[in-house]
Amino acid sequence: MTKLTFVAFDGTRFDVEAENGSTVMENAIKAGVPGIEAECGGACACATCHVYVDEEWSPAVGEPQAMEEDMLDFAYDVRPTSRLSCQIRVSDALDGLTVHIPERQG
Ligand code: FES
Repeated sequence: MTKLTFVAFDGTRFDVEAENGSTVMENAIKAGVPGIEAECGGACACATCHVYVDEEWSPAVGEPQAMEEDMLDFAYDVRPTSRLSCQIRVSDALDGLTVHIPERQG
């Protein structure tokens, strides 16, 4: 199991034990983290699972693929550490990952 931390826009922290191979988005939905809508169910087709990867974790998480980058154009308040959480797969390398939830989606 890999530990993930979601920080909601109001500062509330959600610590989650995530299974390797699942996506960060799936774990946010399961834990009821407010602000993650994931309307397309993880198909990289809605941009409502937008998160900001904690700066410290950005190198480990890596850059978005071209398709994700195109979808990010539809997200609200995109920043250099923006990612679509359905496109981040949980692995041991991400143990302790922290992501921040934007003020709103879309
Ligand atoms: Fe739709 Fe991530 S859930 S793009």
